[in-house]
Amino acid sequence: MRVFSGIQPTGAKHIGNYIGAMRQYVATQEQGDAFFCIVNLHSITVDYEPQDLHERSLDLAALLIAVGLDPERCTLFIQSHVTAHPEAAWLLSAVTGFGQLGRMTQFKEKGEGKEFVSAGLFTYPVLMAGDILLYQTDVVPIGDDQRQHLELARDIAQRFNSRFGETFKVPDGVYPEVGARIMDLQEPTKKMSTTGGTPQGTVLVLDPPDVIRRKFKTAVTDSGRDVRYAPGEKPGVSNLIEILSVASGAPIADVESSYGGRGYGDLKGDVGEAVVEPFRPLHEQDAQLRAHQAGL
Ligand code: AMP
Ligand code: TRP
Repeated sequence: MRVFSGIQPTGAKHIGNYIGAMRQYVATQEQGDAFFCIVNLHSITVDYEPQDLHERSLDLAALLIAVGLDPERCTLFIQSHVTAHPEAAWLLSAVTGFGQLGRMTQFKEKGEGKEFVSAGLFTYPVLMAGDILLYQTDVVPIGDDQRQHLELARDIAQRFNSRFGETFKVPDGVYPEVGARIMDLQEPTKKMSTTGGTPQGTVLVLDPPDVIRRKFKTAVTDSGRDVRYAPGEKPGVSNLIEILSVASGAPIADVESSYGGRGYGDLKGDVGEAVVEPFRPLHEQDAQLRAHQAGL
């Protein structure tokens, strides 16, 4: 089974990235022939500093290895090192609908209110389709926010195949059952994100333990007192329950029922602790790996 996923080197990685994507990468690396790509060519579609982007790519390589990707068991690489990626994007752009690209919500969100919106931001999903299709990918582990892009990649593959004959595998997206869309702790109706969210509501994988605890302690909850999973009605509490479910390995229903009579304060404290623990060894591993610039 061929696995492929990409992750941008920009923006500090947060627990949404970890739960929605990185955790799945590590699991799929055991199941198949896996390729993970640091997609620096996607990151140049918005404003960036060249030297900084280079450093952030190395940061991300260190972090991915620290969370468990093993370069002996998967192929971890930088997108710009393989020029077939932008070539594929150009060729596939000829079988991509202009109107379809205009309907991509990420394009609208990232372009909104910007003085300069690059054509690259518009064609971004075609490069992503190229990334995936080049490797005859079976499955793409990603978070929920990439669903629309993955559907587009499937459409592009199908259109190409029907026009030129069977060429590309049509890939399937795999989304985590719990945690495919982790929300901002301060504004739980928005997804956690270093660009669109709040700093206090975004828990970074490399935040020190005290900072992680504090961010959970000050998380916005909802009116009422009962710890109950109901994302529409109780987005804040439901988000905390999802995070605790993933961190503890207990199903959502078990997490809910363990709070009989206890309130939001306990939940916030528990989820903070549950996240701090598995991330504790990461800091040191990450720092050691990052220090070996040449090795990276
Ligand atoms: P990015 O950092 O934007 O390249 O995203 C890397 C991966 O993390 C993608 O598979 C995203 O779908 C996933 N991801 C990003 N934000 C979240 C979130 N708030 N919840 C779950 N998954 C996310
Ligand atoms: N667009 C993805 C994101 O922002 C990153 C990405 C680029 C990707 N190419 C990919 C994800 C190929 C999966 C497969 O998260």
